[in-house]
Amino acid sequence: MKGSLLYEGKAKKVYTILGEDNQLILEYKDEVTAFNGVKKDYLPGKGRLINLISSILFAYCNQQGIHTHFIDSLSDTEQIVEHTRMIPLEVVVRNKATGSIQKRLGLEEGVAFKEPIVQLYYKEDALNDPFINEGEAKMLTGCTSEELHYIQAEAKKVNKVLLPLFQRIGLQLIDFKLEFGRRHDRTIIVADELSPDTCRLWEAGSNRKLDKDVFRQEIGSLLESYEEILTRLEAGAHV
Ligand code: C5P
Repeated sequence: MKGSLLYEGKAKKVYTILGEDNQLILEYKDEVTAFNGVKKDYLPGKGRLINLISSILFAYCNQQGIHTHFIDSLSDTEQIVEHTRMIPLEVVVRNKATGSIQKRLGLEEGVAFKEPIVQLYYKEDALNDPFINEGEAKMLTGCTSEELHYIQAEAKKVNKVLLPLFQRIGLQLIDFKLEFGRRHDRTIIVADELSPDTCRLWEAGSNRKLDKDVFRQEIGSLLESYEEILTRLEAGAHV
């Protein structure tokens, strides 16, 4: 069933499926990296946690009518997704100030934005994924203005769907990164992953960090944090 290795990234491997051109297998690795690969570690069990969390979040988005690449879970560390051509954009949605926006604009950490802020970054490791504007995004990706507006509106929709889900399980969705892929018919869907590697999640009330910042800032056990997110999601995602 599993075909050849199509691509290996920092945290996952992508395989073809024999006899099935429209689908791929994503396999999550036990590696964690930060700061564009400068800081890295090997954490046995991490791939399972990311795969299970991302599967729950994507299945939830699908249920809520958002078009995503997620088809089904395959094993503890693997999932089946639709085969799309990835658009080299990182679309970040922010509800509260932290991370790069806090630094760049001199904001106080945790300040809530009146409206979610959507930002575009060019996905290019060699350039450290620079922040770009819409004109630059059109030039770099070949997307039309309408497609870029659709992408940003879909990112806001994902935020609208995930905010109450996390709220129900006592977590604040501070920000997250999405990637999009293009199908054969040129339609655009949410792809890649949705996980604490690509989101910021703080415990409601205490503001305790439970996402990759635990690793970036060395403030606790990443595996325990991710295990806690999975446990909370398993208990509350279907409510
Ligand atoms: O670092 P920054 O504040 O710009 O990150 C915003 C959000 O996007 C965070 O949730 C972070 O985990 C995610 N992100 C990501 N991959 C990147 C850059 C940021 O998943 N290459």
